[in-house]
Amino acid sequence: MNILIVATAFNGLSQRVWAELRRAGHCVEARVLPEENDAQVRAWVEELAPQAIIAPFLKSRIPTDLSAPTIIIHPGIPGDAGPSSIDWAILNNEATWGAEAILVSEVMDGGDLYAHAEFPMRPATKSNLYSDEITEAAARVALQAIASIDAGRPSTPQAKLERRGQTRRALKNADRDLDFVRMDAEQIVRIIRDSDSQPGARAVIGRQMYRLYDAYFEDAISSKPGEIKATRHGAVLIGTTTRPVWIGVAKKEGVGQVKRPAAHVLPVEGVTERDFEPWRLIDGETFQDLKLTHHGGITVVEMLFYNGAFSTERSMRVLAALEYAERNDRTKIIVLTGSSSFFCNGIDLNTIHSSANPALEAWHSINAINAIALKITTCKKAIITTISGNAGAGGVMVGLGADRLVGRCGAMLNPHYKGIGLFGSELWTYNLPRRIGQKQAEHLTEGLLPLGIDEALELGLIDAILPRDYGAFTGELLEFARAHAGQAEKIAAQRLNRIATSPTPLEAHLAVELSEMSRNMFGDSLGLAGKCAAFVTKIPQCATPKALTVTLEHHTSVIGHLAASNPATHELVHVQLNPRAVSNAA
Ligand code: COA
Repeated sequence: MNILIVATAFNGLSQRVWAELRRAGHCVEARVLPEENDAQVRAWVEELAPQAIIAPFLKSRIPTDLSAPTIIIHPGIPGDAGPSSIDWAILNNEATWGAEAILVSEVMDGGDLYAHAEFPMRPATKSNLYSDEITEAAARVALQAIASIDAGRPSTPQAKLERRGQTRRALKNADRDLDFVRMDAEQIVRIIRDSDSQPGARAVIGRQMYRLYDAYFEDAISSKPGEIKATRHGAVLIGTTTRPVWIGVAKKEGVGQVKRPAAHVLPVEGVTERDFEPWRLIDGETFQDLKLTHHGGITVVEMLFYNGAFSTERSMRVLAALEYAERNDRTKIIVLTGSSSFFCNGIDLNTIHSSANPALEAWHSINAINAIALKITTCKKAIITTISGNAGAGGVMVGLGADRLVGRCGAMLNPHYKGIGLFGSELWTYNLPRRIGQKQAEHLTEGLLPLGIDEALELGLIDAILPRDYGAFTGELLEFARAHAGQAEKIAAQRLNRIATSPTPLEAHLAVELSEMSRNMFGDSLGLAGKCAAFVTKIPQCATPKALTVTLEHHTSVIGHLAASNPATHELVHVQLNPRAVSNAA
């Protein structure tokens, strides 16, 4: 079918729906609608003549009388309606939640239902649920709805369904107010989780109002209610009426303020830093954004940084953890993984933008993340990179030097830098063409389009896909690593030998990349400063990115090149449909 996607922003969920529909064989165009504009939508429909219109993420209204069925993806269960669905689901401790494909109607979220999918809720932030279970359910209901429209099956009026949800008002600022002196830890953490991403939970500390994000319980340190007790790697520990709570990220209330590690924002003078090495274990809960665990000869390094953003400080800690694992006698294979939301999104643009000298901070950040890429590529131990969640820019490239790359089903990759005004580094000029060939590397880095994990497997960018379900994924990841343990030394030796005999040394690749990056960072040669400011201060895209309007042509040529250069492509297209792990690793 010809399908038109209309979205407020081409965010991760919209990208996933776009990728799944294309994969199902549909012709899909996507357009960005930053604000209500009926004339614009009608013009797109006129131009593209879609047979169905789908809105995976839409904050504004869309006409109800378009010439094709128009489907809204709503993050809720039948009967639920309103703009704060996920927030309410967290606040009300719902046991299950879901996503629905609803026919657009004059009554918000009140139209006929084409499909709905549900999942058990878990204690998580709004954005973690959105990028994980809700995105998964949204992709499923979008496919089902399109299949129904294609087959001429009718939608179901909501009145005919068991409506367990209800219409709920938008959450107000007052619903997001925190009081560390009067509230218990559970209440505070729940409000911060349901306010995550935007707009944040509100708290007055000293005389200043802040927005707080990224909260964790603490069981080993005690404190008085409201007391700022400790800091750790940028997080701040604050007492409540029960146990204290770590706040990972904060910003001052006000226009133009940017989220940063909380210790850079809250009043923490004289507060003790309570370091916590990644390999330490405690009974109970604490804040640990970098974890190192041993499972027989397999050492897993988990990078759990907020939004997958790598500041200089975070990258240096990852490097230290990798060096620790490399030195450790019991480690045969290192597995480097991220969170279920993000593997890595490259250097931390918020920290860069807010620093006194953004260009210099960007330079330090890129050098620090490059040290991780270099360590992975030259590691003496066998190493597996695991794309556990979405990854963007340098966050895709940083792990490409590993012996094996594993992706989690459903993860979306954005393997390009130009949108943010950078040439890119992280050894991509060495590792990307080596994995997928020069032509494909150019297509990915110049095309500025997202890449589904299945396509990444077909291109040879990754070697295997493991299940979406996070428990099954982590279990199978260890199995995958164990299956390689017997040949670990041989695998690492082959990689090191390949580097030693490479016509261009790694240092030369880094030198070329950094010379371009220095022009980007210190000379603003590709507009980094303005693009970074727009990204971190959330200035909405005012139009559809150019890359999207050439989607079909570009995609066809990528696949064309792929088929020509890789005779195994068609076979892989077939096997990857197996929902369990698939692999093209040697
Ligand atoms: N630095 C700081 N914050 C980042 C970030 C980065 N590199 N990448 C993403 N984030 C933040 C976003 O600001 C957003 O913050 P929020 O908590 O205020 O909502 C959150 O992570 C999720 O990002 P979002 O853009 O909404 O996710 P997405 O799945 O829709 O899109 C990307 C994913 C990767 C396409 C997009 O986040 C992106 O382009 N990131 C920048 C990548 C980059 O240029 N890195 C620097 C060069 S190496």
